[in-house]
Amino acid sequence: MKMTNKGVGIGMLGVLVAGCAGTGSAPSASGDQNLARQIAETLIAACPMSAASDEQARAQCAANLSDNKGLAAVMKNPFLWGGQKAGTSYHPEESNMNWFNTFVWRRMYLSLLMFTGDMSIEQTADGLTVVHLAAMFRNQLDMGSYPYPFWHSQKKWDSYQLAREFIMVIENGKWIGAMRSADQDPSHPNVSHTWSGQWHWEAAATEMPYVSLYKYLLSDRNPNADRLDSAYRALSDGLRSQSCFMCHSPDNHAGITPLEFFNYPNQALVARNSIVARLEQNDMPPATNDLGLAPGIAAETDRQDLISLAQEFKAAGDAALAFEGEPALSAADDPVMAGTAPAPATTTTPAPSK
Ligand code: HEC
Repeated sequence: MKMTNKGVGIGMLGVLVAGCAGTGSAPSASGDQNLARQIAETLIAACPMSAASDEQARAQCAANLSDNKGLAAVMKNPFLWGGQKAGTSYHPEESNMNWFNTFVWRRMYLSLLMFTGDMSIEQTADGLTVVHLAAMFRNQLDMGSYPYPFWHSQKKWDSYQLAREFIMVIENGKWIGAMRSADQDPSHPNVSHTWSGQWHWEAAATEMPYVSLYKYLLSDRNPNADRLDSAYRALSDGLRSQSCFMCHSPDNHAGITPLEFFNYPNQALVARNSIVARLEQNDMPPATNDLGLAPGIAAETDRQDLISLAQEFKAAGDAALAFEGEPALSAADDPVMAGTAPAPATTTTPAPSK
C-alpha cells in the first residue's frame, strides 16, 4: 500500500493510543493487527523514500519519529533491535538482540531506514503480529551519521544494507521489537567502508559519531543536556577503568543477548538502571570470563564511587527523557527486573551484536 498524506498516519496513531487508554480493553489479535497497521502507516509517512545520501531527509525522518509520542506510548521500553538470525521464527529472543531506550532507537536507528510503502501483516499461531515492511537503508550518509561504525563487521554492515524487510513484532498491545530480515536482496546498492579500529574519532573538531551525543538526541531547549553529558563522561571513565567496555561494546565479545552496550552516550541510556543494580550486586565483570578479569570490583571505595556516578547518570537521564515527554522505564520492563538469560559461556564464538 502507499501512503502519501503524512499527517494521517501520525494522527491515527495518536487517536488509537488515546482510545486504548480510555477503554482499558484487553489486547486482542485484531487489536494488535490494527496497531500494527497504524504503526506501519506512521513510519511510511514519517520516513518516505529519498536519496540514500540525503542528510536532510534523515534529519526530517528522525524529527518525525522522535516527536511522535504516540509511537513512544505503544513501544515496549526498553526495545529490542537486531538482525534476524537465519532460520529462526519472529521471536526476538531467538536472534541476537540489543536493548535500546525507545527514544534513542527511534531517533538514531529507525531514522536510518526509509520505507517504500509496501507492507504485509502476518499473524503467527503463537500470538505474534508481524509486519513485513519493505525498507531501504540510508547507506550513503556521512560516517558520523551512523550510531557507530556498523562496518566494524562486514556482516553487520551488510545486514543493514541488504535486508529486504524491516520486521516489526507486536505482542499483547505493544510493539516489542524489530529486526532486519535475514532475507537479503543482493541487488541493493552497496557502499563499502573500512573500519579504522576506533569506536570514536574526530572530524572537523567534532566528536564522532555525532549522532551518539546528547546534543543530537535532545532538543535544544532541554535543560538537562550538559548535566547528562558530564554525568556520562564521569561514569564512562570509571567503567572503562573497570574493563566494562571490553564486553559492553558493539562487538559483543561475550556474546550477550540481548546486549546493553554503553560505550556511547545515547546508547548507554537504556542501561541507566541496570548499571546501578549490577554495581550494587558487584557481579560484574562476571566470574566466568575469558579475558582473565577478576570477578566483581575489588576495591570497595572504587565500587562506591562508581555507584555514585551511575546514580547521577540515572537521575540526569531520567530528567532529560522526562523533559522530552518520553515515558519512564517501568520496573516490570526493566531488563534487570525482567531477568535476562543466564550468562552464556564466554569461551564460545562471540555472537554478532546487532
Ligand atoms: C567479560 C565480559 C564482561 C565484562 C568485562 C563486564 N560484563 Fe557485564 N555482562 C556480561 C555478561 C555475559 C552479561 C549477561 C549475563 C548477566 O546478566 O549476568 C552481562 C550483563 C550486564 C548487565 C545487564 C545488561 C546486559 O547487557 O545484559 C549490566 C548492566 C552489566 N553487565 C554491567 C557491567 C559493568 C558495570 C561492568 C564493569 C564493572 C561489566 N558489566 C563488565 C559480561 C561482562
